[in-house]
Amino acid sequence: MKLLVTGGAGFIGANLVHHTLATRPQHEVTVIDALTYAANEASLASVRDKITFVQGSITNTELVDKLISETDLVVHFAAESHNDNSLNDPSPFIQTNLVGTYTILEAVRKHGKKLHHISTDEVYGDLELDDPAKFTDQTPYNPSSPYSSTKAGSDLLVRAWVRSFGIHATISNCYNNYGPYQHVEKMIPRQITNILTGIKPKLYGAGQNVRDWIHVDDHNAAVWAIIEKGTSGATYLIGADGEQNNKAVFELILELMGKPVDWYDHVNDRAGHDMRYAIDATKLRNELGWTPQYTNFRDGLQATIDWYADNEAWWKPLKAAVEANYAKRGQ
Ligand code: NAD
Ligand code: DAU
Repeated sequence: MKLLVTGGAGFIGANLVHHTLATRPQHEVTVIDALTYAANEASLASVRDKITFVQGSITNTELVDKLISETDLVVHFAAESHNDNSLNDPSPFIQTNLVGTYTILEAVRKHGKKLHHISTDEVYGDLELDDPAKFTDQTPYNPSSPYSSTKAGSDLLVRAWVRSFGIHATISNCYNNYGPYQHVEKMIPRQITNILTGIKPKLYGAGQNVRDWIHVDDHNAAVWAIIEKGTSGATYLIGADGEQNNKAVFELILELMGKPVDWYDHVNDRAGHDMRYAIDATKLRNELGWTPQYTNFRDGLQATIDWYADNEAWWKPLKAAVEANYAKRGQ
């Protein structure tokens, strides 16, 4: 099968490329990536001779049309992905997440190809801390930020193209991923690399917000289960029951890195900060037989810390600019 991975030089996309070459070497992989600030070509350096890499935007109609005409399946990761950036300037989020997804859908429709659309649990908004409920595929959409609202819009476009034009597409919504190759703007790599460079970790607000953490390899294994066994038009929620509040995650990172567990600063909170995410992944587990492999968060986090400690050349050039941006916002 010929596979087109959009956003394959980003965090989850690059991990999907590695995962695919390791587990399904029979497939031919092409990556399209605009190489925005969030991409890192070094993430694909070790496999560049095994894939085709195209630098370009998913909003480029001609390029997307050509690449999709030559593929069997599109796995669509490309997006502007950071909530804090979307609060600063929503415009690239509108372009990539909405117009880019529309551009892909039109080419998929024209050429009769398959699509798997990667989305987020943030389309459902947030939950109260004491709410026993978790998100399911029946939860109404209620996004909070420019990022999550553009992701919600992109999901709805996919659903409309399935219903009205009969394209073959599946959607998955996953929560917070961690693991190697994640940009240092995101919470876990930011704090690990802060500690590695002698900076105190920066906790937003009181740190009571809860995120549900999944290892990126478990996410990508679920994506493959959906591609291979999912039903067109269906939405699958991917989650591994990893709820933790931010303060607890900070304390664990500090403990694993040999620092006092209170060695962090409280900084300005995020505007409109979602309180809690939690996913009920029963449908994925029961219908497709997927189960997570990284069930011990402490071990997965330790491996991630080791990866950042061993791969300074991958993240060090990005660090100062990211921290300068955060400092402007008092974060
Ligand atoms: P990322 O920011 O690390 O990578 C995004 C990639 O997309 C980058 O390589 C970037 O260059 C590329 N890109 C951006 N605009 C583009 C454009 N116009 N054309 C082509 N390429 C473009 O993001 P990520 O964390 O790997 O997230 C990937 C996908 O997974 C996103 O759709 C995101 O919404 C979704 N998601 C992420 C998480 C998470 O925890 N990171 C959780 C659930 C869902
Ligand atoms: O739930 C899925 C989403 O997870 C994805 O759709 C997004 O692409 C991905 O970025 C992530 O979104 P979050 O906003 O939850 O992730 P982030 O890493 O930015 O922040 C995680 C939590 O940590 C959040 O409650 C804010 C807090 N935080 C973040 C940073 C960067 C801090 O306390 N300090 C920080 O320095």
